[in-house]
Amino acid sequence: MKNPFRKDLVSRSRPESCTVVIFGATGDLTHRKLVPALYNLQVEGALPAGVKIIGFARREKSDEEFRSGLEELNKKVSRSGHDDAIWSEFSQNIHYHQSEFQDQAGYDSLAEKLDEIDRERGGKGNRLFYIASAPSFFDDVLEHLKKAGLSESKEGCWARVIVEKPFGTDLPTAQHLNAVVNRTFHESDTYRIDHYLGKETAQNIMVLRFANAIFEPLWNNNYIDHIQITCAENLGMEGGRGGYYDKAGALRDMVQNHLLQLLSLVAMEPPTDLSADGVRDEKVKVLRSMRQWDTPELVAENVVRGQYIAGHVDGEKVVGYREEDRVDPESMTESYVALKILIDTWRWSEVPFYVRMGKQLPKKATEISVHFKEPPTVLFNALAGGVPGGNVLVIRIQPDEGISLRMVSKIPGASLRLEPVKMDFHYATSFGKGSPEAYERLLLDSMAGDATLFARRDEVEEAWKFIDHIEHAWHESKNPPPMAEFVAGSWGPKEADDLLSKSGHKWRRL
Ligand code: BG6
Repeated sequence: MKNPFRKDLVSRSRPESCTVVIFGATGDLTHRKLVPALYNLQVEGALPAGVKIIGFARREKSDEEFRSGLEELNKKVSRSGHDDAIWSEFSQNIHYHQSEFQDQAGYDSLAEKLDEIDRERGGKGNRLFYIASAPSFFDDVLEHLKKAGLSESKEGCWARVIVEKPFGTDLPTAQHLNAVVNRTFHESDTYRIDHYLGKETAQNIMVLRFANAIFEPLWNNNYIDHIQITCAENLGMEGGRGGYYDKAGALRDMVQNHLLQLLSLVAMEPPTDLSADGVRDEKVKVLRSMRQWDTPELVAENVVRGQYIAGHVDGEKVVGYREEDRVDPESMTESYVALKILIDTWRWSEVPFYVRMGKQLPKKATEISVHFKEPPTVLFNALAGGVPGGNVLVIRIQPDEGISLRMVSKIPGASLRLEPVKMDFHYATSFGKGSPEAYERLLLDSMAGDATLFARRDEVEEAWKFIDHIEHAWHESKNPPPMAEFVAGSWGPKEADDLLSKSGHKWRRL
């Protein structure tokens, strides 16, 4: 039956057809996320007609080999399943281009190939370059694209670039990469991807806050006690990820980008309009207002880092972080981080934002919980137990996307007893369908020229500035704050609980 509450709310300009060139096409991201996202857009009829995909990578492969590797993975991961007929039509538009990332000739021949494709199918010449290679090649790809004349928009069409994360490893490297990006592509044609911004529930944060008149008056330090942002994962270093991760750590891998982006959406002021810069201007102000933990003492007081030791996750025995494949047995890289963030603005003065992220926790879940102040206890304080806690608004980013509100209610019956109850909204049941994958939305947005859900240069740099102080205290100071340990499959180290209990708070149980 058709759900009467379901409406299409598409409001932005139409995506235009183009050729998508993916650098690092033999990698995991292309196979697990990018091509399945394009395939699902095709299934939904949302992919503009005539989109071609060129995979650019170093290994020798024919078009056929490339397509069959993609098909194998699509069968496993595609959210709408795999339809042989649709795939066969879709995959006819996929090609492979073999080249070293540092070889100019490979880019020159790519330019010829792109022109040829446009001539054959009467394409306008729009190009979307997606840099998903190892980060050490980002600069090379950008510079060579420019030399091949591919970074310039030809008359009447566009050339855009999507840059994957990690966008630098600290402020200087991010600034350097930004300089390279800006001398090759216009800032307005640059899309720094953060796939958390493409998640349906992340997009809904602004709608919840600004399309409902009841929240905004309460959204400040008069009514909000504190806010928690949790990103838990029940995975370790599978698939050889340890090599990358041990150099990055939880803070760089997820907090600098995904979690600070969520924080800025929750904490931003209402933008003057919904343009990309209107929204990003407000988000960057939040990042700029974060109090800096710029001494090792402040870091020790406000940030906890940890590693898991052997334990059980989902009933399976798992090794400790330091025993993981490609991880240094004496590694001082955190697989878990919890921190307190203060935003020095009138709205948020002294309201703590507690952010935590960890691998090998009991389950996969990302949520934001807004904890309102408790009511004065004048009326119900005589009851056994008093009022059982304040209101909590929970925004579930994933899985089971939705929003719930905890309220206190009277238990039916003659006596006056109070208990918390929950009002719960689930996307899947209210809208009659699951949410699309973040990459689907983001790829379409970049084809439509809408950069609202992509990070701007100043956002990335402000976030790194904050993160760098912490990394510095951990890795370069004389008295680095300690590394906490916790058993894999538990909710993180005791030190993270202490971080909250100092202020009379407790992590919400997920
Ligand atoms: C990536 C991180 O950016 O996001 C990974 O590098 C992490 O370490 C992943 O597992 C999580 O994404 P999602 O969409 O599964 O929550």
